[in-house]
Amino acid sequence: MKLWGGRFEKATDKKVDDFNSSIRFDYRMYKEDITGSIAHAKMLKKQGIIPENDADLIIKTLKEILSDIEEGKVSFEIDAEDIHMNIEKILISRIGDAGKRLHTGRSRNDQVALDLRMYLKREIIEISELLKELLSVLLNLADEHLDTIMPGYTHLQKAQPVTFSHHALAYFEMFKRDLLRLKDTYKRTDVMPLGSGALAGTTYPLDREFVKEELGFSEMSLNSLDAVSDRDFAIELASDLSIIMMHLSRFCEELILWSSHEFSFVTMDDSYSTGSSIMPQKKNPDVAELIRGKTGRVYGDLNTLLVMMKGLPLAYNKDMQEDKEAIFDAVDTVKLCVDVFTKMIATMKVNKDIMLKGAKGGFTNATDVADYLVKKSLPFRQAHEVVGKMVLYAIKENKALDEFSLEEFKKFSPLFDEDIYSAISMETCVNERKITGGPAKETVQRAIKISKEFLDNFKIK
Ligand code: ARG
Repeated sequence: MKLWGGRFEKATDKKVDDFNSSIRFDYRMYKEDITGSIAHAKMLKKQGIIPENDADLIIKTLKEILSDIEEGKVSFEIDAEDIHMNIEKILISRIGDAGKRLHTGRSRNDQVALDLRMYLKREIIEISELLKELLSVLLNLADEHLDTIMPGYTHLQKAQPVTFSHHALAYFEMFKRDLLRLKDTYKRTDVMPLGSGALAGTTYPLDREFVKEELGFSEMSLNSLDAVSDRDFAIELASDLSIIMMHLSRFCEELILWSSHEFSFVTMDDSYSTGSSIMPQKKNPDVAELIRGKTGRVYGDLNTLLVMMKGLPLAYNKDMQEDKEAIFDAVDTVKLCVDVFTKMIATMKVNKDIMLKGAKGGFTNATDVADYLVKKSLPFRQAHEVVGKMVLYAIKENKALDEFSLEEFKKFSPLFDEDIYSAISMETCVNERKITGGPAKETVQRAIKISKEFLDNFKIK
């Protein structure tokens, strides 16, 4: 018989049981469900709402059920619908009437909100740990490649030289913002909804503050209707996760390009590459491609949640059961991707010489030639035009700007002197950009220091 079977004259159709059931995917909240129930039972006892000995028996048995589940001794039932009723049913089967007192002053609506919040709080912490590892690998790369000059791009056309260190720190900034976003989402997830009942609270004198403290929540929900029908925290998390995937995907796209023969800026480690079943020469960046591919899947999860919620009247609606597969999938996917990505970039080889060669081609020091003339008092617009003409000439002559003879330089402007050569070397182009945020070695070293301090001191809660 169903836990809610009292008002029914007929059994549910088998198909409806299957259709309605969420145990297939919500079983993974078993620990949160049991922990929440133990706190609820302790509170019911403290408030004198249920007899002490019943409460004690409930708590003891719930703990046994938890370890039995962990040892794989428990099998869940489809027709007990979800994790909440499965556990309650097991409890009742073990201790009878005492177990039937657990659900006093509680509804599955506030129970599921509690479980999901607790579950996602734990996942947010795990994801932030993975992100911190990624950030520390990025800092190692930045430390290692302060002098690794590479071309910087706009429109995927060579623009100005930077260093690989500077490039790695760009991603540090992105993933740092992601971490801060998770911290912010954690705050809004860290709200205790139990006591909201089905939608309108309860007449029992529950001690919500006690349950909140017992379960380690920072805040308590203030409106029962909102508390049971709010899934903003899951949507926010899915949005944070989508942005993380977007950042990973952009870096992956670069690594896919960079590991092509055409670029050859990096070589993926054999342990993070795969071969072709037909072409013996192939070494493919499958890992990076899969991360790029899985990004769409996480965006899909976010969209699932947004669309699922958009038409729901207050308060709880069964539609909301659809939140779990989406948010679980987003969480699982991101954890997998951040972890494998971190290892992939930690093991890849950076081909410094090829990067430097790349930086030297494509007139990446043209801006610096113009700036040289500006420093000799030519207005910038004029300098821009002079260098434009020099580039045109250089293309025809098939040479780089720093390969001009002094005579050639002087043909374009009498302001050029011997010091032009050092003014437009790759090293000067990079290291004179000392402005905060720029690629100069000393600037990047300062940024690394600030970033290390951030990472050492970061805490979610
Ligand atoms: N399995 C349900 C969910 O995930 C639990 C809440 C069900 N509440 C209800 N009144 N049917 O949303």
